[in-house]
Amino acid sequence: MAVVIRSASASAPAHKIEAAPPPQRYARGWHCLGLAADYADGKPHALDIFGTRLVAFQGQDDKQFYVLDAWCPHMGADLGIGCVKGNSVVCKFHGWAWGGDGACTEIPYAKRIPPKARIKSWPTLVENKLLFVWNDPEGNPPDPAQKIPRIEPVFQPEEWSDWSLVKWTIHNNCRELIDNIADVAHFVSVHGSDNVVYFANLFEGHKATQVMVGANRRLGGGEYLTTIASYYGPAYQITHMFGKMGGHPVESILMNSHTPIDPNRFELRFGVLVKKFPGMSAEQCEAMVKQYVDLTNKAFSEDVEIWHNKVRIDNPLLCDGDGPVYQNRQWYEQFYMDAASVPAELKQRRFFEIDHGIERKPEIRHAFDN
Ligand code: FES
Ligand SMILES: [Fe+2]
Repeated sequence: MAVVIRSASASAPAHKIEAAPPPQRYARGWHCLGLAADYADGKPHALDIFGTRLVAFQGQDDKQFYVLDAWCPHMGADLGIGCVKGNSVVCKFHGWAWGGDGACTEIPYAKRIPPKARIKSWPTLVENKLLFVWNDPEGNPPDPAQKIPRIEPVFQPEEWSDWSLVKWTIHNNCRELIDNIADVAHFVSVHGSDNVVYFANLFEGHKATQVMVGANRRLGGGEYLTTIASYYGPAYQITHMFGKMGGHPVESILMNSHTPIDPNRFELRFGVLVKKFPGMSAEQCEAMVKQYVDLTNKAFSEDVEIWHNKVRIDNPLLCDGDGPVYQNRQWYEQFYMDAASVPAELKQRRFFEIDHGIERKPEIRHAFDN
């Protein structure tokens, strides 16, 4: 790490933290709602996200997952406390049924359905056993360029553990977490790394990747831990991690996703998959996997504590050892603009590197790009 060669001037004015109110719109892109299986119980699920209430459910017949606005336009009841019938969610108050496309399909006591009886239906996607909802303030369909890449290990139960997922509510705006992509300095102070010998950021279109190599006692067994972490869009990050535990090499995949509740709170999900250990009995392997999941959860909760207790800051006071925090925020801004207004330079490929003398540089690529 950088060595302080002289202290700041005693006469310099104190740096004043500036923070405009967070944007009232929410990022354009796919947002994760957790495991799709958790929504496959035949019931409606209320979701307090994007500053409103939504309802998610699975159609009984077509098995599709749907997300609708939850406030019933008839007289304002919550569809989240209704029930699922066929491919519709039925309001508990007067029994109006709403199909997955948002059109009213039945009113039990009316001869004619009012032509305006329609509520907003949000695009959904199931990938990697996770359910996603598409947010676009302009109301456009999902951008095919922003697809969520498939992670084959999710579908290889012989070789990989299943998702272990935890969820937090963080009292802050999502941008404060996005800073993490470019935050090279926190690995030592927050995660107990001994050093970081290599750090790079690659921004390219809707992807933002961090490549890090550092010695870490907890997740690297004292040896070098290599992580390749890629955001696909504004709210879903996949990390491919190569570490060590108890002398065994460990390959793992981490998922970090955030879905805004309102401008000052977000749901944070953290998932872990661990590659099973060859030559071990099923019990030994399960114990090792659990131990590693616990270690990664603990490491992530170290970040959570910081995010939970920090203020929004528009003008971070950076030093020469920091990563490209401002450039990272510029990349993130594209998701808060109308699609046609995003300047070309925000989507351009940009690469930043901090090399403290690594012997062999890691490959620079987006994790699980396909
Ligand atoms: S409020 Fe939903 S059916 Fe009346
Ligand atoms: Fe971190």
